[in-house]
Amino acid sequence: MTAFTPPEPAEALARLGMPMDEAMRTQRAVRRLHLDPVSHEVLLPLLELSLRAPTSSDTQDWHYLVVEDPAQKARLAKLYRRLYRLFNPIVERQARGDAQQQRNIAPGQWQAEHFEELPVLVIPCYRRGLKHRPVGHPQISVASFYGSIYPAVQNLLLACRAVGLGASLQTLPIWWVPAARRILGLPRDIVPVCVIPIGWAKGRYGPTTRRPIGEVVHLDRYGNQPFR
Ligand SMILES: Cc1cc2nc3c(=O)[nH]c(=O)nc-3n(C[C@H](O)[C@H](O)[C@H](O)COP(=O)(O)O)c2cc1C
Repeated sequence: MTAFTPPEPAEALARLGMPMDEAMRTQRAVRRLHLDPVSHEVLLPLLELSLRAPTSSDTQDWHYLVVEDPAQKARLAKLYRRLYRLFNPIVERQARGDAQQQRNIAPGQWQAEHFEELPVLVIPCYRRGLKHRPVGHPQISVASFYGSIYPAVQNLLLACRAVGLGASLQTLPIWWVPAARRILGLPRDIVPVCVIPIGWAKGRYGPTTRRPIGEVVHLDRYGNQPFR
């Protein structure tokens, strides 16, 4: 535990009035977190806001697993570290000789080492319905499946940013889906999509670096880029 004192719930929730453009410009993956618990008085209103998102055909077949139990977090941490050990050497090789990249991977390393101590892991899941079976039109089924959960995920990231909770979208911790499914007791048709570790931010929120819109916005046809 740290010397940090979390804000009172009412004070934290009042920060949801942050201008939307400021929240959107400064929302980034914040992986260094204080280990103090996050009160349900703060978390539940954020989940409620998150789940105002649209879903394909208004199915709303989402489930959020909120993992706080130390034993459950320890199981997920064990799974994550196995995957991290497999994947991280590739990331480290890519960052070799690049001081900035090396700095970027340090918070991820910190999080992998402290995964079971993180205050809360939110795991958004979605029910794989008939229309999401990968037959016929896989592109449509995949688009409507993931498109029904990621808007809610982004809502949650923005809400966390506004109140000062650190959060990040992560898929690696549950890449081995059958193991994640076993730990969480998920029925076969409920698919875990990502993990969002949440705690009071120790890491810095701030302006993100993104490609300029002129490079990626096309007018009427691909290749016509008058906004460059
Ligand atoms: C689909 C998706 C999967 C991601 N998976 C992980 C992950 O497994 N671990 C992780 O640390 N970050 C993960 N991220 C976060 C990205 O690495 C991060 O958003 C990106 O590097 C930009 O960083 P920034 O938002 O801090 O600018 C993921 C992001 C997305 C959109």
